[in-house]
Amino acid sequence: MKQLSKCVSVLLIVASSISACSDSNLSFPIDTPPPPPTTSFDPQETFRYDTYGDEALWTDILRFHEVVASITPETALAVGLKVDAEALPEGILETADLADPATTVALLSLDAVVGIKAEVAADGTVTKFGITCALCHSDVDDSIAPGIGIRQDGWPASDLDPGLILSLSPFFDDKPTQRAQLQSWGPGMYDPYWNLDGISDPVVIAPAYGLKDVPLETYTGEGPVSYWNAYVAITQMGGQGEFIEPALNIEIHADPDLVTAKLPALLEYQESLESPPPPQGSYDLAAAERGKNLFDGKAQCSGCHVGPNFTDAATTLHEAHEVGADPLYATRTMTKMYRTTPLRSLWQHPPYYHNGEFATLDEVVGHYDLALNIGLFDEEKADLVEYLKSL
Ligand code: HEC
Ligand code: HEC
Repeated sequence: MKQLSKCVSVLLIVASSISACSDSNLSFPIDTPPPPPTTSFDPQETFRYDTYGDEALWTDILRFHEVVASITPETALAVGLKVDAEALPEGILETADLADPATTVALLSLDAVVGIKAEVAADGTVTKFGITCALCHSDVDDSIAPGIGIRQDGWPASDLDPGLILSLSPFFDDKPTQRAQLQSWGPGMYDPYWNLDGISDPVVIAPAYGLKDVPLETYTGEGPVSYWNAYVAITQMGGQGEFIEPALNIEIHADPDLVTAKLPALLEYQESLESPPPPQGSYDLAAAERGKNLFDGKAQCSGCHVGPNFTDAATTLHEAHEVGADPLYATRTMTKMYRTTPLRSLWQHPPYYHNGEFATLDEVVGHYDLALNIGLFDEEKADLVEYLKSL
């Protein structure tokens, strides 16, 4: 019995490796603790480069291997794709022709386009095209040129226009309504339910940093990190795995499953991504101090934005009207409610609220003042904004 339970727990931890249950793994004395949990997938590699087999969607159905062949690097940068400077051989940018689609293919063959994995044949034909989590959840620091620099994993791809990119697929040639919807989303926005319910109501691509110890993920608190990661990988990216959600009428099976065994690695990587601190001198310290007192006191923000992550406990969610939010997005989800957004690096990722209706933190504070009938003076609003800039 003891042997059996040990076998099972090792299997759970090393879900990817069936051989964990072999005799050699069970040969240690019964009182010795089992080896620490490991995963055979590298966390960073998985986040940056794994496609989970989503070429089945992006190549076979959307035919992006053909689309990219006619896209110049200038166009690619204009739709918000980013180039990983560390993947480029020394000096290549000086000679590269950014108006030539062949350069796009060369960049793909160097694995230098953030969030895209392609296979390029010797004759320059792109034979396979897939996307990774980094497409929407990494940026670059622009240190070489706009759109070209060092990767910043976890930063939302706020220049990326996923709808516009998707609309380039010939799959939509005979679907003008869908194509027009995709083209209406705009940069930094994506709708992770559109392909399921047909409603076009995009949300701001969220940061993937600062999520350690945040109990519920997504604007509507759909579940813990791994639940959502599986949801996105399988139902959105087209990754090959098993995802079953009766509440949303989803039942997807795949054999082999290229997602489930990677979820621990993905979780580990996301939990390691810390929120970037506000730039030096980007806010007024004394005003932020006063703002903190308002946040915890008169304005009662900390009634919902609780604790070090400024979010609510796993069991609390909110009706849209409690914060004057647009209810539509929530109605499309399982919870029908909004999670108190964890406030992290607010300076880094405008616009605010799930649908990006507030361009600045001033607008957010002005909105709360009216919606919650707080009665803040102008100086108090300004102090509260300085505090939010410090988070
Ligand atoms: C096409 C763009 C896109 C891709 C690709 C993508 N995401 Fe997201 N991600 C989003 C959007 C949009 C949201 C906000 C959805 C929401 O909160 O309802 C989001 C939200 C999240 C969140 C929740 C953040 C929070 O504040 O709770 C996590 C975690 C996450 N994504 C992880 C991943 C992982 C891991 C992958 C790869 C398996 C991935 N995403 C791929 C667009 C994307
Ligand atoms: C009743 C609970 C509640 C209270 C009180 C509350 N919030 Fe929120 N907060 C939320 C919810 C829920 C959201 C998500 C709304 C959405 O995305 O549509 C949110 C979102 C935000 C955002 C946007 C974060 C982002 O990344 O988009 C900011 C900033 C914010 N709140 C600041 C405040 C401030 C400042 C106060 C006090 C004046 C406050 N909140 C009071 C629940 C609350």
